[in-house]
Amino acid sequence: EIAEKGGFTHFMLKEIYDIPTALVNSVESLLEKYLTLASMIVFGAKKVFIIGNGTSLHAGLISSYYFSDIGLNVNVVSAAEFPYYGLESITTGSVIIAISQSGETSDVIRSVKLAKMRGAVIVGITNSVGSRLALESNVYLPITAGPEMAVPATKTFTSTITVLKVLSLYTAYQMGKVSKKEIEEFKSEIKTLSKSIAEKLPKLEKDAESVASLLDKESLYVSSSGINYPIALEGALKFKEASMTHAEGVQLGELLHGPIVLANKGYPIILIKPAEDYAEDLYNKVIRLVKDRGIKLITVSPGGDLDSVKTSRDLSPISNVIPLQLLAYKLGVKKELPIDTPPGLVKAVII
Ligand code: AGP
Repeated sequence: EIAEKGGFTHFMLKEIYDIPTALVNSVESLLEKYLTLASMIVFGAKKVFIIGNGTSLHAGLISSYYFSDIGLNVNVVSAAEFPYYGLESITTGSVIIAISQSGETSDVIRSVKLAKMRGAVIVGITNSVGSRLALESNVYLPITAGPEMAVPATKTFTSTITVLKVLSLYTAYQMGKVSKKEIEEFKSEIKTLSKSIAEKLPKLEKDAESVASLLDKESLYVSSSGINYPIALEGALKFKEASMTHAEGVQLGELLHGPIVLANKGYPIILIKPAEDYAEDLYNKVIRLVKDRGIKLITVSPGGDLDSVKTSRDLSPISNVIPLQLLAYKLGVKKELPIDTPPGLVKAVII
């Protein structure tokens, strides 16, 4: 088992260190003909739903910003809720982008089958080529992150974001909004980011360890705005799974509409600096307020307490989630928890 972990103490840590390689593999493994087909389907859709659970749902939420940027409205719904929200509106011409790293999650498979019966076309996104999702999809795009053993998903998340970004770029190409050259430039951007992450990972791990030593509360908030808001949700999920710490992901603006009431002196709030300029004013105001109240503030940004890699707005979710994954991991280590196999959780929820 130690050999499988490549010398790391846990699969989760190994898989975080796999992220740079997985990112490059994911973009390089996407075949032109499938991307063209999938993007033509999305471009021609009357209505697009994106479904998934947990971490895959969070990747879907991030992609909704990419699709919105190119003028495409998509509905992101938990695969568990889709039968009650969305299904009734599915007709021929509807498209479901179904995301599942395992490709076996029951909620996803059930929703896909129901949507197909109403005439929807399925674009599957999965890390498992022979999975039920791959078989049920009209076309599927592989995540190609390599096997992920730890229950808390890490490298499949960052690679799923990458695959969805490439799909949005190909869809924009179908719309005549971007050129193939721009798509190639994005692929180079991924390679540059991968290199920077690989170089910085040992420092990020050390930073996470020292921040974890300061965390002694059983509850915390993770907050951000814009394209990094889903990273607040994902960060909070990682704290629950890897460190069994109650954590809530809150929109930066919403923090002031209630949640802040729990944040007394010493209560930790992790703020991910938004990548959008328009959010800067709110971010600075929240920082002042948090400091005035003596709340334990931890910032995630290039140069922050958790010093993420500097990159573009579109790739900032990838760069910002890594320090949070590491922090959740280090907190789990500090609490001596079974990080790779959290009690009562399984890798693929088949019910
Ligand atoms: C992620 O850390 C969790 N283990 C969980 O939320 C997971 O993302 C969810 O169950 C969906 O799994 P899937 O991507 O294999 O469908």
